[in-house]
Amino acid sequence: MTRVFSGVKPTGHLTLGNYLGAMRQWATVDQYRADALFCIVDLHALTVDHDPARVRRLSRQAATLLLASGLDPERCTVFVQSHVDEHARLSYLLECVATDGEMRRMIQYKEKAARERRHGSVRLSLLTYPVLMAADILAYGTDEVPVGNDQTQHVELARDLAVRFNQRYGHTFVVPRATNPVVAARVMNLQDPASKMGKSDDSGPGIVYLLDEPDVVRKKVMRAVTDSGSEVVYDRESRPGLANLLEILAACTGGDPEKLAGAYDGYGTLKRDTADAVIEVLRPLRERHQELCADPGYVDGVLREGAGRARGMARPRVDSAYRAIGLLPAPEAEAVALDAAR
Ligand code: AMP
Ligand code: TRP
Repeated sequence: MTRVFSGVKPTGHLTLGNYLGAMRQWATVDQYRADALFCIVDLHALTVDHDPARVRRLSRQAATLLLASGLDPERCTVFVQSHVDEHARLSYLLECVATDGEMRRMIQYKEKAARERRHGSVRLSLLTYPVLMAADILAYGTDEVPVGNDQTQHVELARDLAVRFNQRYGHTFVVPRATNPVVAARVMNLQDPASKMGKSDDSGPGIVYLLDEPDVVRKKVMRAVTDSGSEVVYDRESRPGLANLLEILAACTGGDPEKLAGAYDGYGTLKRDTADAVIEVLRPLRERHQELCADPGYVDGVLREGAGRARGMARPRVDSAYRAIGLLPAPEAEAVALDAAR
């Protein structure tokens, strides 16, 4: 069976972009057709200035929202990255395969490092982040990585590292590939359609959070910036604000942005319909989230079991990577204990 792995970073409240660009496909398609793992990648949240209590809170919230979005722990594995040591173990080996030039070429690094540098310094982990992401993917023999297209370059790197490791040290890793959802692969900020709707930014009015109340969602959509001109046409280049609304509406209703454009003669009705569609898509998710919050023991149990299962899958492959690259196999635990007792 195809192995699928994807992850979400607990750096902010999850957004409509996360849902339409990733989570919805995980819940409605991927968990049924594949052997799928979904990971709250908390180690990745430490690559920029962070508040420990907030990361903890957001990790738990992300886990709860993944389950609320319909991931079924009987069908797929939901777990927290830091609960499985194999990610960090493998990341170091892959740092010995990747080059610094490769890291510095990553678009997301360039963008984020520039931003961080303005406030002070850039954590080294921001540079090596894509290697840890490659470790996340390769540890599980992943075939497919469903992500929004902002992550395609990172998955390409994971491919390159897998191929290079296999060539140098013998076949160890499956070479993964990225898969993108068809519509709304990139949901843009409602106030700034040139940048993606990202949870780590704090420009609240342009971002629809999954837990926003319906009237807040409506307000944000109604105030979305649109482009000059009044005719409704779908053109990403010259009318990015409008195109974003059409894509969101299409993603929520299963329509086609180009066809939808023809059905509207003004921005007002388009915005109203888009707001309604988003509210309806988020309604069941919010309801289920509330139920799950009332039962934190359940979420803990899912994460405990998920980590156990994930560890069992990752361990053998990471162990064989350690041997392949030239590290001496660790003596058996019992032998070490015996020696110590002697
Ligand atoms: P992140 O929020 O960066 O941890 O991303 C989690 C997943 O959601 C990744 O697969 C991203 O590609 C996807 N994603 C995040 N923001 C957006 C967005 N605005 N549009 C589409 N996909 C997104
Ligand atoms: N870097 C991804 C993002 O920002 C999150 C992520 C980390 C991930 N590890 C992963 C996604 C492994 C897919 C597979 O969205």
